[in-house]
Amino acid sequence: MNKHICSRWAFDLSTWTPTLPQLTHAVAAIQPEERKRLMKFHFIDDFLSSLIGRLLMRKFVSTCSNVPYHQVQFARDVRGKPYWVQDQQSESTPPLSFNVSHQGKLVLLAGVKGDSKDDAEFGIGTDVMKIEYNGGKPLSEFFRLMQSKFSPQEWSYIGRPQHNERAQLKALMRHWCLKEAYVKELGVGITVDLQKISFDMDTTHPLEEASSPLCGSTLCCNGTPMTQWHFEEHLLTPKYCAAIAFRNCLPLEHAKFEFLPFEELIEQSPKADQPDVVAYCQKALLKPHKRHE
Ligand code: COA
Ligand code: MG
Repeated sequence: MNKHICSRWAFDLSTWTPTLPQLTHAVAAIQPEERKRLMKFHFIDDFLSSLIGRLLMRKFVSTCSNVPYHQVQFARDVRGKPYWVQDQQSESTPPLSFNVSHQGKLVLLAGVKGDSKDDAEFGIGTDVMKIEYNGGKPLSEFFRLMQSKFSPQEWSYIGRPQHNERAQLKALMRHWCLKEAYVKELGVGITVDLQKISFDMDTTHPLEEASSPLCGSTLCCNGTPMTQWHFEEHLLTPKYCAAIAFRNCLPLEHAKFEFLPFEELIEQSPKADQPDVVAYCQKALLKPHKRHE
């Protein structure tokens, strides 16, 4: 299996309170249809998570392809998965695969770059989850509702006798991230029977920030080992776990997610102060905040 250069970038929204000029700069960089979509969010938190995801994608494609930041074009497939609209004329642009995930205060991008046009049969998916449950009902009730999403083998790992409630929740979230990362590479949403996707966890080390990433978890679909797939599991903070699914590719090296400051997401973009974008951002900044975590 070919080894590829891999980017793992994270953004922590709790470190950023956008000013109007910063937000204007960011919003000016994204496509009009995405601006329209973002404005539909009720909370500013969701607006910003999704916006940062768009900036991460733009930075990734622009950095890997040398296409100027503002010229990168994205579209979404029928299931909503974003992809890069590559210039067919250009022979030199490499095949890329990337995926974004956001939850709570974190936004992640995982991306891989192929060597040549002949090396395009690979892909990547990622998912991040906050390890918490505050659904109101007892945790046992939540687990009962989740029953159909996990295989018997996965439940036996999640419910290990040495797992207290917190460890069970963490184990469940780890599985969830792995499944979502897999499903997101495929781009098929929740049409897959999740119980038939069964992960066998890497148990060499507990998943901690220091031990991240763990790379030994494996997947069986309908009992068949999925040998073309490779997984990384990360703990980014004590409360956030994430997974990356690699199809037909392996990262050149296993590494942690790198936290980027806002300025690095936008530095290649020309500053902007178009009145319509400023007015749009003023409106966005009036959106309510979620209760802080
Ligand atoms: N496939 C892959 N990526 C997609 C996608 C698709 N069909 N549609 C959107 N995305 C990308 C986008 O960049 C999106 O960001 P945006 O909403 O700002 O545009 C990002 O992935 C969203 O990912 P994430 O933050 O992880 O969202 P999610 O986990 O809520 O949803 C879905 C992921 C939409 C792709 C899909 O898998 C889904 O509907 N999941 C439902 C949850 C579920 O039942 N999971 C079971 C796992 S055990
Ligand atoms: Mg998700």
